[in-house]
Formats: sequence, structure tokens, C-alpha cells
Amino acid sequence: MAILDVSDVFFDYGDKPLLSGASFKVNPGEHCALVGINGSGKSTMMQLLIGDKSPDKGTITWEPHVTYAYLDQQMSVDMDQTAADYFYGVYRDLFLKEKEMERLYMEAALGEPGYEKLLSKAERLGNELLESNFYNLQSKVGSVIDGLGFAKEDIEKPLSILSPGMREKAFLGKMLLEEKDVLLMDEPTNFLDPGQVAYLSQYLKNYPAAFLLISHDEAFLKDVADVVFYLRAGKISRYKGSFEHFLEQKEIDLAQAEKNYEAQQRYIKKEEAFIAAHIVRATSARAAKSRRARLAHLERLEAPSKEGGEVHFHFPYSTGTGRNVLTVENLEIGYSRPLIAPISLEIPSGSKVALLGKNGIGKTTFIRTILGQIPAISGNFFFHENADIQYFEQQVSIDLEMSPFEYLRSLYPDFDNTKIRSILARVGLRNEAVMRKLKELSGGEIAKTKLAPITIEKSNLLLLDEPTNHLDQKAKDSLFSAIEDYPGTVIIVCHEKDFSESLVDFEIRFS
Ligand SMILES: Nc1ncnc2c1ncn2[C@@H]1O[C@H](COP(=O)(O)OP(=O)(O)OP(=O)(O)O)[C@@H](O)[C@H]1O
Ligand SMILES: [Mg+2]
Repeated sequence: MAILDVSDVFFDYGDKPLLSGASFKVNPGEHCALVGINGSGKSTMMQLLIGDKSPDKGTITWEPHVTYAYLDQQMSVDMDQTAADYFYGVYRDLFLKEKEMERLYMEAALGEPGYEKLLSKAERLGNELLESNFYNLQSKVGSVIDGLGFAKEDIEKPLSILSPGMREKAFLGKMLLEEKDVLLMDEPTNFLDPGQVAYLSQYLKNYPAAFLLISHDEAFLKDVADVVFYLRAGKISRYKGSFEHFLEQKEIDLAQAEKNYEAQQRYIKKEEAFIAAHIVRATSARAAKSRRARLAHLERLEAPSKEGGEVHFHFPYSTGTGRNVLTVENLEIGYSRPLIAPISLEIPSGSKVALLGKNGIGKTTFIRTILGQIPAISGNFFFHENADIQYFEQQVSIDLEMSPFEYLRSLYPDFDNTKIRSILARVGLRNEAVMRKLKELSGGEIAKTKLAPITIEKSNLLLLDEPTNHLDQKAKDSLFSAIEDYPGTVIIVCHEKDFSESLVDFEIRFS
């Protein structure tokens, strides 16, 4: 029996239908991915699964007693506890059991009447602890902590002062330790560096229970998915097998659906022509009528809808910037103390460079320091005097009450409505999304909005901090070509190796 049964679910946010008859089932132990273009409704589906939203129609049934965990950015957890307490908190019951066992042994040691009873109770608790693998906890928690890149000092910090990315990883780590029957994850790799993605892949591959995850990271999906649910035009198709198999099969299915639809359209046209020609003729009116009745009962195939999500990024170029666009000399970056050893480097104009290094090492801090947003501790940096910089920042610092339209209008008050709409259409924002508040947009829609100004402003140096996060494959492909075609310099931080490796001329590794 399926542990999760989603049947004929309908849901919309009051404008266009989003989910229209979506169905799928998750069986015990199945490793599933939910995929689809930006804005297709994947995160919404997740919220329906955990009961944060209710379907307008249809049912979502969890098998009784099935436990699940959900990776959510806005989780309500006690932010004053340290990451270590948070992780070990998973085993609170076991720690309490251990305490109780110790207490019983102490009491039994007094040798008072009835002490045998206490002893046997303590032994029973001891066995239970053994069975729960209590004595391996240290190494288990340790492996998750290492795998997700927590340094010793990080795990002793309260969750509230960890960077957003680290906090997200703490949530992920806890979820892995909890070992629920089903893990629900919405884009879990966005905050991970390549080594950590590899760790997560390995962990998930060996995960004894089921999971359902949303991701646009194809290399990761190829590693972990055994079943793919494809959300398209409000419905979900199930593909059993690897992600590669899904990619092939979905093309075949689409081609077949188009063929079937066209064949049916040809048939309908032919029949209609016959009916029109014969319905008024005494000799053949009967035949025409019966064909008309048959046609009326024909179950009509829907046109395989265009998937949408067309995106065309282009980054306009200003002018040349001499030999080097950026020179950095013994630059110390950090807050109260330097994060890493002093940095010295030269970035030749027109080069494409990847900044690598574990997360939390200081890549974003470096970028923000050379932009003057964070003071340097010591050292120097110079840009070429003609440098025109555009920055794509990892975080969202736009007012979330604004719509993409209002955001662009605030930056470019002179642009008329048509121009703003056409810019937003080019970065792949559909009509409905253009006027919606950013806080109501999907992750991909927000990322596309953040990229829009870079497609307007002329520049010769792009600083891109995790630009592929949340983007679907079409958008990533377009971003890739836009960077490739861009004559200026690009410094990029990107955890998706497949994306950056083939794009850059050289890599700078912080360690
Ligand atoms: N609270 C809301 N009010 C109105 N519209 C919303 C709201 N939340 C989401 N939407 C819209 O519903 C659509 C689906 O959003 P959802 O977040 O489910 O997409 P997604 O498939 O997860 O996309 P992505 O791949 O970009 O994360 C989007 O077009 C989004 O703008
Ligand atoms: Mg989403």
C-alpha cells in the first residue's frame, strides 16, 4: 500500500489553475523527485502534502502512523539552542532513558529491599539503548556534521547567529538524523557546496526509507532519484527509473502525445467536412447524422500544451577594461577577525572565473568587500577605472511587498509599461507573476526578477553569487549562453559544478 496517495488534486491561488487533477503515489522506501519548470506548482504541492494548504478538490492521504519530516526555511525552532544541542535533540528520549538507567543503577547500588527489581529495570533500559544504537550516536551525528561542513566552532554557536546557509544546513542535518519514513525536501542543495552535495547524494542513496525531493540540479537528480514525478500543466506523470530515463522518456511521450493529438485533429476535420457536405443531401443525410453523433461522443485529446518558461537572458556590454579589471593585494576579509589568509589576485579583463571554497569560507564576504559593502580588515583592491559592475547577490534584498513590475518601475521610472513587461517576459516571468508580490512568487520567479536589471544595465564586470539557485533547466541553459556570449569579465560562485566548470577559464579556490 502506498504511504502517500495524492488523488486528483486541484488548487489555484485565485487566478490561473495551478494544479488541475494532479495524482501520484509514494510507496515505502521509494526515492522520488518532483520536477517541473519554475512556477509549475512544486513547492505548492509540498505545502499541500504537509497540510499547510488544503486542496480545492481531491484528496491527500497519508497512511496512518507514517512519519515525515519537511525541510522548511521558516521552521519554528528555538533559535537560542546551539546547533549541537539541536542535532542531539533528535535523541532526547534516548538521553533521558540513559539518565533514568543511571539513576536506577545508583539507587539499586544502595542494596535496599527490592533492589533486584531496580536492577532488572535498569538492564532493560540498557538493552533498549543498545538496540537503538545509542552508543553509535556520537559517530552518526559526527558524520552528518562533517558531511554538511560544520566546523567545530559552528556547532557550538546558537542557531540564531549562524549564517542563513548554515542554519538551513542545520535543519537539513537534523532531518537526516531523524530518519523519518518520508523526507520531504524543497531544493535541498541550494545551500551546499559540491562536496556537501556529494555527501547528501550518498546519504540519500543509502537512505533506508522514502523521500520526495524537489530540485533543479540535474546532476544531483541523476544521482539520487529512482522515481520521477513530472509536474506539467497542473498534472503529474510518474516515471519509474533514473532521472536520465525520465529525460528520454518524457521526450518520447511528448512526441507521441503530439502525434496522437494531430491525428485526432485530422480525423475530426475530415468528419466535419463530410458532415457539412452530406447533412443536407437526402441520400446521405442519415450517414452524416450518425457520424455527427459519433463525433459528439468522441473523447477529445487536449493539445499537448507548450511547457512555457521561455527565457532569454542577455547581458549588455559597455566597454573594455584594460589588461586587468581587478587587482587584489593582501586583502584580509572578515568581520571581527579575518576569515581566511590574505588574498592576492589579478583578474584579467574578459576572463570567466569561478570562486570556489567550502560554504561559509568567505566567498560572498569577498565579493561584498570589493564592492565596498563590508570594510576590508587590511590590504588593497583596485578596479580598472572603466569598470562597470553588476552584482547578482545570493540573498534577496528587494522589498518583498513589491511585484516584479513595481521593482523594475522603481529602478527605471522612465520605462513605460510595455517596456517593463517585455523585459520581464524575456527573463521568463509569465503574465500572472509580473504583478504578484515577490513574497508570493516561487523561488525561480524571484531569481529571474533579481536577474532582470543585469539584462538592462550595460556592464563589463559581472559578480554572480549562486545565480543558478532556483532556476529551472531552461533558465540555466539561457544563463549559460548569456555568460558565454558576454565579452566582459565574469566572477561566479556556483555550487553546480556542471554549470561552472565548462564555463570558466580558471578557478580561484579559497581555503
Ligand atoms: N501565496 C501565493 N499567492 C499567489 N500566488 C502564489 C502564491 N504562492 C505561489 N504562487 C504562484 O503559484 C505558482 C507556483 O508556485 P510554486 O512556488 O509552487 O512553484 P514551484 O514549482 O515551486 O517553482 P520554483 O521551481 O520556481 O520553485 C507561481 O507562479 C507562484 O507565483
Ligand atoms: Mg519552489
